[in-house]
Amino acid sequence: MADKNTILTGIRPTGNLHLGHYFGAVGNWIKLQNEYNTFIEIADVQALTDNFNNPEKVRKNVRELALDLLACGIDPKKATLFVQSGIPEIAELTVYYSNLVTVARLQRNPTIKTEISQKKELFGNNGESLTYGFLGYPVSQAADITALGGTLIPVGDDQLPLIEQTREIVRKFNSIYGETLKEPEHFLSKIPRVKGLDGNEKMGKSLGNAIFLVDDDETITKKVMGAITDKNKIRKDDKANPDVCMVYYYHKLVSTENLDTICNECKEGKRGCINCKRELATNMINYLKPIKERRRYYENNISIVDEILKNGTKVVKCEAETTMKKVKKAMMIDYFE
Ligand code: TRP
Repeated sequence: MADKNTILTGIRPTGNLHLGHYFGAVGNWIKLQNEYNTFIEIADVQALTDNFNNPEKVRKNVRELALDLLACGIDPKKATLFVQSGIPEIAELTVYYSNLVTVARLQRNPTIKTEISQKKELFGNNGESLTYGFLGYPVSQAADITALGGTLIPVGDDQLPLIEQTREIVRKFNSIYGETLKEPEHFLSKIPRVKGLDGNEKMGKSLGNAIFLVDDDETITKKVMGAITDKNKIRKDDKANPDVCMVYYYHKLVSTENLDTICNECKEGKRGCINCKRELATNMINYLKPIKERRRYYENNISIVDEILKNGTKVVKCEAETTMKKVKKAMMIDYFE
C-alpha cells in the first residue's frame, strides 16, 4: 500500500501557470505541503513526448514553471521540487515496465485517447503518426510514481486512468518478479475545474481563455473586461443571473468580501457589469500581488531557483537508486552487485 505520508505530483513544463492551475491544483499543493512529505516533479521528459520538435520551449519552461510554483508558495523547505530528466532511473524503469503493458491497453487509456485526438497536427487525423514515446508516456509516469516508492498522488480526474495504469503495472511486476513495488493511491482534489473567461468548462492556454499568474495588471484588467456575463443583461439596471456570469464566478474565487452584496445587487439589477468587472480586476490584481512579489524575488535570485531544483533532483535520485536496486534484484539482472 502507498505510503500515506508522502505525496507526489507532476506537471509538464509547457507554459506559464494560469488561474486554472492555481485554483485547480497548485493552491491545493500549497496546503498539502504542510501535512505531507511533498514531491513535485517538473515532467520535462513527458513534456517532450509531444514537444520533441520544440526542445527550446521545454527548456525555457522548466525554469518558468519552477518560478511559477515558488511564486505560488511552494516552499522548498517543505516540498521537494525536481526535474524528471535528472533521474535516469525513471527512464530505466520505463524500459522494464514497458514489457508489462500491452499496446492495446495503452491505446484504450481514456486520457491518452483524448490527447491523441486533440493533437491531430502532430499525430495525424487518425493517429497514424502517433509516436511510440507518446503512447508510452503512461508507462513513464508509472516509473515516476514508483521510483519514489509508491505514494499518494494528488491529481484531477483526467489523470485517474494514468494512476490506474500504474497500479496495474505494479501488480503485474509484483506477480511476476515477487513483491517489490508499492501501489500508489490517488488523492482527488475536491476543487472543480476552473472555467475560462469565455465560459468554457476549462481554462486553458490553448483555448485562449486564461489569466496567467504572470499577466501584468493591465492585461488582467483587459481580460476581465472581456469576460462573459449574463447575455440577457443589456442595461445597467437589468436584473441578471450571476450563476451564468464569469465575472461573478471569478469574484467567488478572489473576492472574499461583499460576495453576497455582489450577488444580490446583480440579481436585483442594482449593479452594472462594467463596475462589477472593474471591482473584479482590482481584487484579482490584489489577490495575485503576493504571488508576483515572490516571483520577482526568485527572478532576481535565479541561482537560488537552480539550486532548489538541483538539490531536489539529487534527493529524488537517491530514492530512485534504491528502487532501481530492488527492481534489478527482483528481475535477476543485478549481475555485479
Ligand atoms: N501527466 C501529468 C499531467 O499531464 C503530469 C505528471 C507527470 C504526473 N508525472 C506525474 C502527475 C506523476 C502525477 C504523478 O498533468
